[in-house]
Order: sequence, then C-alpha cells, then structure tokens
Amino acid sequence: MLEIIDLTFYYGNIKALDRVTFKIKDGSFVLIVGANASGKTTLLKILCGLLPIQKGKIMFDKKELSQNDLRYLCGYVFHNPLNQIVGTTVEEDIAFGLENIGMERNRMIKEVEKTLKSFGLYELKEKDPATLSAGQLQKLATASVTVLKPKYLFLDEPTSMLDEQDSKQIKQCLKDLNDSGITILVSTHDLEQFLDTSNWIIHLNNGKIDFEGEIKEFLEKDFPDVERPGCFN
Ligand SMILES: Nc1ncnc2c1ncn2[C@@H]1O[C@H](COP(=O)(O)OP(=O)(O)OP(=O)(O)O)[C@@H](O)[C@H]1O
Ligand SMILES: [Mg+2]
Repeated sequence: MLEIIDLTFYYGNIKALDRVTFKIKDGSFVLIVGANASGKTTLLKILCGLLPIQKGKIMFDKKELSQNDLRYLCGYVFHNPLNQIVGTTVEEDIAFGLENIGMERNRMIKEVEKTLKSFGLYELKEKDPATLSAGQLQKLATASVTVLKPKYLFLDEPTSMLDEQDSKQIKQCLKDLNDSGITILVSTHDLEQFLDTSNWIIHLNNGKIDFEGEIKEFLEKDFPDVERPGCFN
C-alpha cells in the first residue's frame, strides 16, 4: 500500500496541493478527477518522483520513500505521450528503459518482444514513433513504462487525445495490466470512460481532496466541475 500523508506542494507562491492525504491499496484502479488547475498532474508527478516531496510524506509498507525510491516503484505516462518517446523505432523506445538499467541483452530482447505483443504493437516494431496515430503513441508510451515493471502505474488523462476506438483499446490495456497485479491511478476529465474499469475515486478541489470513495457514492453528490455520465442523469 502507498500512503500519502499531508502532501503540500508550491510552485513559487502558488499552492498546488494542500495537505493531500489518502491511501492507494495494492491492486486497485483509482480515478483522480477535478477541475482544471485542481492539482491532478502535480499529484501524479510527485507520486512518480518527477517533482520533489516538499512537505508531507509518502510511505510504502511503513517505510518513508524518497523521491528516488518513487522513481523505481512507480511509472508515469504523460498527458502528451510524445513527451516521453525517446526511441527512433517503436522497438527501441520500449528497449530504452531496459538498456538504462543494464539488462542483459538476450533477456532484454525477450522482454521487449513480450511487451510489443501484449500491447498489440508487434507489427509496428520497426516504425518511427513519429508516424504513429495518437492511440498507438499512447499505447507505446504505456508499454515503454510498463516494461520496467512498476508496482504502481500513473497515467495523466490517457484518453483525452484519443478517439472512441483508441480509448477503448487503451482502457482494455489498463484493465489487463490491473488484472495482472499492477496498481493503477488515472487522472481524467472523462469519468464516463472509466466507469466500468474503476471503483474508487478521488476528487481534487483547489489542491485539496474533498471526496474519496466509491464512484457510485460520488455520483450521488453534485460536483459542478464534474460532468455526470449520461446514465446517471
Ligand atoms: N510548472 C508550473 N509552474 C507554475 N505553476 C504551475 C506549474 N504547473 C502547474 N502549476 C499550477 O499548479 C496548480 C495545479 O496545476 P495542475 O497542472 O497540477 O492541475 P491539473 O488538475 O492537472 O489541471 P488540468 O486539468 O488543467 O490538467 C495550478 O494552479 C497551476 O496553474
Ligand atoms: Mg493536468
């Protein structure tokens, strides 16, 4: 379990997170929602070690984690996946992280092949990522993070740039990863997309959590910044 305790974060004078406290249970699929500028991206970036822990603590199995510990434990997929593509081919992009940790070559080839297949990217392995569709890019960015086997996977609005078909595929990918034991946290503006994949939701309001609980219970309340899925109107 990841325990987030009293996390407060400032960009200069701007308070982006205000004493955020919650727990991420292993195996769960959690949604983070909230208006623009409510702190979703900031929270995810701290949790994966991209931004420092200024105030507060993050604990894993009762041990306090450093920013560096988080980098190993957690993977992060950016809002715009192009921000994290580094390879000149799909295959190279997936291999990059494994090369970085010094994985032995034969093992690396096997891991890359397994990941290419499980994300449906095998046929595209020699393609230049710049030529991929938005959906394929999102899958590649997720694959390149997942190949490193993070215990926790955080994705910032993974479906916001995708059409319906690509969104469906990414959601299925995430569902399969979650079923395989990876704990997932997704920030989204589109609650309806994830109604059938997730059960637990956190609502951020101006850097503070003002709701945490089951989606069903969340939908019974009226948060002005949240578009209620059609089936609940
Ligand atoms: N690099 C930055 N420098 C200064 N202020 C920032 C920076 N990034 C975010 N902020 C501010 O921090 C607050 C939280 O922003 P954040 O991006 O975390 O919100 P968000 O919920 O992800 O918003 P969105 O839904 O638009 O993606 C906002 O007031 C934002 O303007
Ligand atoms: Mg954001």
